[in-house]
Amino acid sequence: MKTYKVNVIGLGYIGLPTAALLANKGFDVHGVDVIKNVVDTINRGEIHIVEPDLDTFVKAAVKSGKLKADLKPEKGDVFIIAVPTPFHKSGYEIPTPNIDYVLSATKSIAPYLEEGNMVILESTSPVGTTEKISEILKKLRPDLFDENDNSKIFIAHCPERVLPGKIMQELVENDRIVGGLTFDATKKVAEFYKTFVNGEVLETDAKTAELSKLVENSYRDVNIAFANELSMICDKFGINVWELRELANRHPRVNILYPGVGVGGHCIAVDPWFIVSDAPKEARLIKTAREVNNYKTEWVIEKIKNEILKFEKEYNKSPKVACMGLAFKPDIDDLRESPSLYITQKLANEGFNVLAVEPNIEKLPGLNLVDYEFAINEADIITFLVSHKEFKNLQLPENKTILDFCGVL
Ligand SMILES: NC(=O)c1ccc[n+]([C@@H]2O[C@H](COP(=O)([O-])OP(=O)(O)OC[C@H]3O[C@@H](n4cnc5c(N)ncnc54)[C@H](O)[C@@H]3O)[C@@H](O)[C@H]2O)c1
Repeated sequence: MKTYKVNVIGLGYIGLPTAALLANKGFDVHGVDVIKNVVDTINRGEIHIVEPDLDTFVKAAVKSGKLKADLKPEKGDVFIIAVPTPFHKSGYEIPTPNIDYVLSATKSIAPYLEEGNMVILESTSPVGTTEKISEILKKLRPDLFDENDNSKIFIAHCPERVLPGKIMQELVENDRIVGGLTFDATKKVAEFYKTFVNGEVLETDAKTAELSKLVENSYRDVNIAFANELSMICDKFGINVWELRELANRHPRVNILYPGVGVGGHCIAVDPWFIVSDAPKEARLIKTAREVNNYKTEWVIEKIKNEILKFEKEYNKSPKVACMGLAFKPDIDDLRESPSLYITQKLANEGFNVLAVEPNIEKLPGLNLVDYEFAINEADIITFLVSHKEFKNLQLPENKTILDFCGVL
């Protein structure tokens, strides 16, 4: 098998597993991060993020000498960029992608590039970002482009679609999309992925690869928005959405997803904006889906507040409100962009008496976390925000108001 010396720029949830996997495959891997503590932790054979099996891979990779972490890149054959691509939340009418980390990672590798190298963008990116990498390199390293502007390096996008919790497995098993800026770049980079991916490596151009990743997450967002919208329509008509969903899904070509309290996580709640901000007139459905999913979260807050008001009128005192689940989806500890955390914090910040429950987390600054059994006993109003396994089959007191927004009951 052909072997490569690989620089991985950005050693987070994507970069570190990739670096460790490649090193265990026998490649010489030079991992780069801007945070010294990350570099030092990895060089001790330890990890700074939680992901099953990653510790074993990193330990073995560092021990064998195949993985070294550093604050700076080195010369090599392949440069993988796996840095964050968040969005600018405020100051813009539509959230706008922030590709500053990608641009600065590109600048950092420029001095080390040599003819024949591959530069691969793995970060989820707005359409045209791979081209921007080429433009930056053209300015910084004109020697890597001929008089007709043809590149002597191979630049491509290969989006990552692994599921946290299964990253080590999915890095190998998932199909990958490789989109080069040129035909040769696509071929060369696809050849590299085929050395460690068991899934199919699908070839296209850079822009199509960029949009395919954004579209995958937008597709999910739109379908969840339909379920969330339906839950609000059902509520208006006094219809049980869970029953309705089951009945409608008996149609052979209908598959309505589960409604919830909104959409969270750093992918589905973020990536659709990358399309909307660049194609605002065309991406109407995608934009509306984002708005519907965000609106569902505010709607849930209003529903809870209405119940609080009812309780106050009836008993002439403030109720204790149990918020069951803070993570952005069931059975994980990830709070990024989590709508249930937002709901809980908003209620607490407005002075309501909140009992916050998240069985997957021990401590959380700003919120007093309590055990779920304690919360159920203490609360006057119990709201289910995330269908964690601990909340299934609970014996609930009959004299309390129960709001199930996630279908856990
Ligand atoms: N985490 C996931 O499940 C997942 C799944 C698919 C795609 N993605 C995409 O992959 C990309 C990376 O995400 P992540 O979850 O690994 O992010 P992360 O925040 O976990 O890690 C990114 C790392 O890059 C480092 N970094 C930032 N700028 C740098 C620079 N200029 N040079 C070197 N290091 C730098 C940071 O210090 C950090 O350690 C994002 O575009 C994300 O959308 C993530």
